[in-house]
Amino acid sequence: MEIVKKTVLFLLLSTVIIITGCKRKETQPTQSGFKLNIPQGFPMPKIPEENFPTAEKVKLGRKLFYDPQLSQAKTISCASCHITEHGMADTVRFSIGDKGQIGKRNAPSLSNVVYQTELFWDGANPSLEKQILAVMLNHDEFDIEITEVENRIRADESYQQLFKDAFNGVINITTITQAIASFERTLLSGNSKYDKYLRGQATFTESEMNGMKLFFDEKGECFHCHSGFNFTDFKYHNTGLDSVTTDEGRYRTTGIEEDKGKFKTPTLRNIALTAPYMHDGRFKTLEEVIEHYNKGGKNHPYKDGDIFPLNLTPQQKQDIINFLKTLTDEEFINNPDFKKPNY
Ligand code: HEC
Ligand code: HEC
Repeated sequence: MEIVKKTVLFLLLSTVIIITGCKRKETQPTQSGFKLNIPQGFPMPKIPEENFPTAEKVKLGRKLFYDPQLSQAKTISCASCHITEHGMADTVRFSIGDKGQIGKRNAPSLSNVVYQTELFWDGANPSLEKQILAVMLNHDEFDIEITEVENRIRADESYQQLFKDAFNGVINITTITQAIASFERTLLSGNSKYDKYLRGQATFTESEMNGMKLFFDEKGECFHCHSGFNFTDFKYHNTGLDSVTTDEGRYRTTGIEEDKGKFKTPTLRNIALTAPYMHDGRFKTLEEVIEHYNKGGKNHPYKDGDIFPLNLTPQQKQDIINFLKTLTDEEFINNPDFKKPNY
């Protein structure tokens, strides 16, 4: 029985792959017919079966993403800490909650977040849908009860038609989180100068070129962790930020001693716009980040073997920074579909 099921599933999947394989990469259809704008050269992301994005869900989720009613004091929305112009990250070291609370970590970029299967700097959260619940319940963020969120949205006339279109009028925490997650899945960034360079549509300066070489070779070592289309291995590393652990990082989830001080490798897409840097926003500039790597970090028993003094010249440091700046995607930050809606 099990084997029959698996065979059927395999055949179905193969058909989907064959059919979609013939289409243009950017317009891969999802089950509901909605097309995620997958950039050229990016893989198909995994999307939970129970929540395929539709145009209606995305439209609704976009409004919710910008709605301060989701926070208890009605002062902040998701967009307060994930700012489009800043690559969907925050500009302050620790984000400010709905009543002025100070958070404990730096808000990461949501560029290409659809590819993240373990959320937060320590990967403690398993899905975009669940992550939204965490924001609501977090005392440093929305600090609100779920029933209160549902009541507020049900009472808001401007949402009635949007929920009818997206979820047959069902307004509850499941549909609210599904809609926001659907909007987040559309936040794709793959048209930076670097992408255009790869496609032969842009040329690099000598400095950008040298920076790219340093980034991708054993001298800079960056690519060991910041690898692939999204400049992350989606794994956890201790980069020697502290000799005495201040934030236990990945250890909080796994309880494994060696995971102390390990954090998820962040994407470097739109990195020039997302200062300050690191899980606690300790570095104000890319110069400070490069200086940290150049020194090889501080000694820590679990520091990654790929973090050691690099002996870069001032010019080489500048070259790496210039290369990182090519990862800025103007189309992404100016995309009208990602901005605060007027409906
Ligand atoms: C008060 C500021 C603040 C608000 C409001 C906020 N976030 Fe965040 N967000 C953060 C911080 C800080 C983190 C990192 C938390 C951690 O790693 O422990 C984060 C992490 C995330 C992540 C994980 C990204 C990754 O790659 O791991 C997602 C997704 C996210 N937020 C989406 C949202 C959504 C959707 C909303 C609205 C429902 C929202 N955030 C509201 C500050 C905020
Ligand atoms: C051993 C793996 C590893 C190597 C090698 C590495 N990084 Fe990182 N990088 C990380 C991790 C993990 C973080 C997050 C660390 C934290 O916040 O505690 C990070 C953070 C960053 C950040 C800040 C991102 C943000 O959103 O705050 C930048 C910029 C960066 N790295 C660039 C580089 C460059 C440039 C190199 C090469 C000189 C490099 N990295 C080498 C793993 C690595």
